[in-house]
Amino acid sequence: MEAKFIAFEGGDASGKTTQAERVSQKLNAVFTREPGGTSVGESLRSILLDPKEPVALRAEALLMAASRAQLVQDVIQPTLAEGQHVVTDRFLASSLAYQGYASGLEIDQVLYLSLFATDNLTPDLTILIDLPVEESMKRRGNTPDRFEQENIDFHQRVRNGYLKMAETQSDTWIVIDGTKNQETVATNVDQAILSSLQLA
Ligand code: TMP
Repeated sequence: MEAKFIAFEGGDASGKTTQAERVSQKLNAVFTREPGGTSVGESLRSILLDPKEPVALRAEALLMAASRAQLVQDVIQPTLAEGQHVVTDRFLASSLAYQGYASGLEIDQVLYLSLFATDNLTPDLTILIDLPVEESMKRRGNTPDRFEQENIDFHQRVRNGYLKMAETQSDTWIVIDGTKNQETVATNVDQAILSSLQLA
């Protein structure tokens, strides 16, 4: 069977990391995350998430793309080529949601930049763990990163952007209700993967 590439997306504190890690263990897939997942990417992640680092918006988009390019070349592409599944906690839709829909960069430009970074690789399936913004704000920890510090309107735009992408790409996206308890979310995620990719 051909190796599959699955991306988990969602707002901050949506529970997507828990699901991505669980699914990757279940499928014996390689698990990774963005920004990060490589030595270069993790260095970029600490710059990008640092609340004290005033990264300019276009620099932010480029650094996200740089992390992604490194991850695709060093981890995702070789793993898929060897026939092993890859599960990632965030991928290019995060750039569209955060740098595009929420921060106001042109969507087409962010997409172009991301596809340049990935050499046109896109996930076989994107699972959006959707949560109302008020709920994700409640779940947040005491030390918010640079993105978590943004106001509620910003996070609402992130959510709206994700929902729009899910609607327009319904052949490769699945929306899971993140307000349900973890067990129900897990069951719904597994069913989605099974019916979309005949996996899990
Ligand atoms: P997280 O992986 O812990 O959710 O944190 C990563 C943060 O980085 C999150 O707030 C979303 C943000 N982000 C972007 O703004 N653009 C991107 O392309 C990616 C991958 C993440």
